[in-house]
Amino acid sequence: MGRIAIIGGTGVCDAAMLNQVKEGTMDNFYGTIKYMKGTYKGKDIVFLPRHGKNHQIPPHLINYRANILGLKQLGVTTIIATTAVGSLNPAYKPDDFVLQDQFLDFTKMRHATFFDGGKNGVVHVDMTSPYCPHLRQTIVEAGTELGYTVHPQGTYVCTEGPRFETPAEIKMFEKLGGDLVGMTNVPEVCLAREAEMCYSTISMITNFAAGISPTPLTHSEVVECMAKNSERLKQLILKSIEI
Ligand code: HPA
Repeated sequence: MGRIAIIGGTGVCDAAMLNQVKEGTMDNFYGTIKYMKGTYKGKDIVFLPRHGKNHQIPPHLINYRANILGLKQLGVTTIIATTAVGSLNPAYKPDDFVLQDQFLDFTKMRHATFFDGGKNGVVHVDMTSPYCPHLRQTIVEAGTELGYTVHPQGTYVCTEGPRFETPAEIKMFEKLGGDLVGMTNVPEVCLAREAEMCYSTISMITNFAAGISPTPLTHSEVVECMAKNSERLKQLILKSIEI
């Protein structure tokens, strides 16, 4: 797998799953990253909490370019990311895991590329398989070994946030083929592809999306569901690293 990084999403903010953890800070052209470095079964692992150590950075203000470039500069070749998502698909239920294989981009105001012209040039990167098929397969195998419900594919819709969606938006996303909705996978996955890194996201379904859920959505229900499942999620990550 090469050097591995875990990008922890909502509910996955600490590196307690690793041993000999040390904090680090690194500056690059796009900003500063704060990360942790540790080991698991003799492998060096970098841990980056996407929303900051105390979940203080909202999805639309995350410095995705600094994060991905920083991981690249730390020698990372493989990224296992986690994300909390709402489900649009009745077959994908809260507490299930999904290894999405496609995305639909509904973000609006993010820096989504390293290729802005200038010294990096104008480059159009292929997005046929945005998520690394080998890594997805490894994580699905790990989940099967652990007896978890892991859906091996799905289409993730990325919204700008930080608000949740309207039921009308969710109906539109369903019509377009979306299975999951979240706020962070784009541009993270795109930047990882541009940086030629193997990237996959474990999505944890925390709720049915707006209008499908019988009650209005709250951030605390998302956080509570992640807390309830964080041990299973950590086991899934560690098992995947072991394989
Ligand atoms: N919508 C957007 N992001 C989310 C959701 C949702 O329903 N659940 C968890 N993250």
